[in-house]
Amino acid sequence: MAEAVLLSLTDYIDQCRARVDAVLSATLPRHSPVSPRLLEAMDYSLFNGGKRIRPILVYASCRAVGGSMEQADPAASAVEFIHAYSLVHDDLPAMDNDDLRRGKPTCHRAYDEATAILVGDTLQSLAFDVLSNPDLHSQSHLAESVRLKLVRSLSRASGLEGMAGGQAMDQHATGQVLDRQQLELMHSHKTGALIRASVHMGALSGGCHEQEILDALEYYAQAIGLAFQVQDDILDVISDTVTLGKHQGADIALDKPTYVSLMGLDQAKSYAQELHNRAVGALSEFGEEADFLRQIADYIVRRSY
Ligand code: IPE
Ligand code: IPE
Ligand code: MG
Ligand code: MG
Ligand code: MG
Repeated sequence: MAEAVLLSLTDYIDQCRARVDAVLSATLPRHSPVSPRLLEAMDYSLFNGGKRIRPILVYASCRAVGGSMEQADPAASAVEFIHAYSLVHDDLPAMDNDDLRRGKPTCHRAYDEATAILVGDTLQSLAFDVLSNPDLHSQSHLAESVRLKLVRSLSRASGLEGMAGGQAMDQHATGQVLDRQQLELMHSHKTGALIRASVHMGALSGGCHEQEILDALEYYAQAIGLAFQVQDDILDVISDTVTLGKHQGADIALDKPTYVSLMGLDQAKSYAQELHNRAVGALSEFGEEADFLRQIADYIVRRSY
């Protein structure tokens, strides 16, 4: 019987989390003669109970194309470095002005604003170091050509055409009413881009070159990327601050356009379900090696935080 059947999603998630945490920790310098405080703030912002959904997707996508966990380590840690940086900046007073993240004071509250800006900058650099430096996590044995593709995928997903562009659109849209097309454009950038890159990088790391497979995975990733932010919008309304580890109702307080504000709670929930079905449908040609990707789609729309 295949391992995929024996290992439950919960066990698999635990395994991926432990693994990426070890990779992140091994990548982070032990000491900084130039700024121990900055290094401490980087550590604080990385190891604070994130769900690690993007690294999990990298591992699961690599597995779906027959790759190993070692091959996926650089991309799994790189995307989490970018994600952690994006959250530190997202919480800044100039952006969402939040004081709670993953159940703890946000980075700029625990340290100060300048440090939080620099934490974002330095985590971003580490992401590209881990992808491009063959001496880091050398057991991944990734070819230079693959590393280059990973750098390209992650840089596009992080910049104007991805997360940062979407964040700019989000800031500009605060207090405005967006139509569905605009909301989708915003979400597909600010959240979707890194999720799509996670799935794409997982497949590249696993040595996949077949366009048909990459296209199917891209379609899956588009659907779960959007579903992830729809669920984030829903949880802002229906969950509570302790469970979320961030302030419930923050979107409403800031008058953010969200799926719930656009279509109401019930429709937002059915849309999340529709996106889930679309994601699972995209994997119809895959066998049990893609079971974790299917189950992660489930987890994304059922999660409570
Ligand atoms: C929160 O992301 C921000 C969004 C992009 C919606 P996550 O829900 O993945 O946050 P952590 O990493 O688990 O804290
Ligand atoms: C944040 O979106 C997206 C990024 C950090 C790129 P949100 O502002 O909705 O995330 P939360 O709700 O603060 O986690
Ligand atoms: Mg925000
Ligand atoms: Mg926010
Ligand atoms: Mg949110």
